[in-house]
Amino acid sequence: MSNVVALDLGSSAIAAVEVSTTRDRVSLTNASVEPIPSGLLQDGEILEPEELAECVRRSWKTAGFSGRRVHLGIANQRVLVRVIDLPVISDPRERRAAVAFEAQEQMPIPLDQAVMDFQPIGLFATEQGQRERFVVVAAHREMIDQLVGVVRHARLQPVGIDLQAFAVLRALMPPASVLDEGSPDTEAQVIVHVGAEVTHVIVSVDRNCHFTRLVNFGGSSLTQAVAQRMECSTEQAEALKITCGLLGDPHGDWDLETIAEVQHALAVAARPLVREVVRSLDYYRSQEFSRSIDRVILSGGTALCLGLDRYLQQGLGMDVEIGDAASQLDDRGGMSIAMAHRASVAIGLALDGAGGQR
Ligand SMILES: Nc1ncnc2c1ncn2[C@@H]1O[C@H](COP(=O)(O)OP(=O)(O)OP(=O)(O)O)[C@@H](O)[C@H]1O
Ligand SMILES: [Mg+2]
Repeated sequence: MSNVVALDLGSSAIAAVEVSTTRDRVSLTNASVEPIPSGLLQDGEILEPEELAECVRRSWKTAGFSGRRVHLGIANQRVLVRVIDLPVISDPRERRAAVAFEAQEQMPIPLDQAVMDFQPIGLFATEQGQRERFVVVAAHREMIDQLVGVVRHARLQPVGIDLQAFAVLRALMPPASVLDEGSPDTEAQVIVHVGAEVTHVIVSVDRNCHFTRLVNFGGSSLTQAVAQRMECSTEQAEALKITCGLLGDPHGDWDLETIAEVQHALAVAARPLVREVVRSLDYYRSQEFSRSIDRVILSGGTALCLGLDRYLQQGLGMDVEIGDAASQLDDRGGMSIAMAHRASVAIGLALDGAGGQR
């Protein structure tokens, strides 16, 4: 049995999970979501490294994680993701060099200042012969060094770094069935993962990422809209947002006028989310390798906003379901769906650490 610990530094909270793995089971053994003060991280960029390291150290102590070797996630506008096609190359070193060469052509980061990784996502036939398609990720080295520095400062040892979008996908999507894997008829699933400041729009086919885009939208802009409309503090606005929701029956005993005002403010503030998801999917559909889209799965802390799923469904004209990021664990250790939304990146990172193929 071995333990894997994963850490997700979000702008509203530090989420961490620990899983234990045996040969055929991955079980959740510990999880924590510790709120952090705003302003330490913004749009995925670390603004206050020392304070953030202190928060990581505190949350580690409070939650009592046994391991210090951690898997980390990254996401911000300086991480680039592209899909590239190449002739099939069997030698792994040559293949890697060819991917790096092509990535350099397509990505505006000098590769000596970048960390690059790629995933093969399938073979396909063309008139020029068989080609292989890859999703390539390139991140500025300086940004990775900063993240690693924060985690080391908290006396933890980073052992793996992955794109947050890949982690979310892994946490939410079941492995492709052996019979369908690689079929050109498999439809795409879209994940819309909405946090406090950023949203990942991810297109998944056979549990592989075929497209991802980071949008600067999150739950904090919903809270701000309520604070402005109701002329109240951020704390009161957060409580109103959570209890009134965007559509449907609220949780609290609010008067009808308050509910109508909060729901209206949330609906107006959520419009950019619909617009950005539509734009992202239009772009995906314009790629010659795009598939038809089966459904949209909502995750992240803001997925807990009452009625956001129905609102998106109306805006996109597609089925929208609320996901469960703990569904790929063999034993979820009692983790609620609500907690799983906030820990989904950490769960996906831990699943990779636990063997990747789960
Ligand atoms: N019940 C709820 N209703 C509405 N919004 C909620 C609810 N619970 C949490 N949220 C919102 O979810 C957001 C936090 O989500 P999450 O933990 O995924 O963000 P994060 O990872 O810290 O942020 P980011 O990834 O954007 O940097 C906050 O904006 C919070 O207000
Ligand atoms: Mg997040």
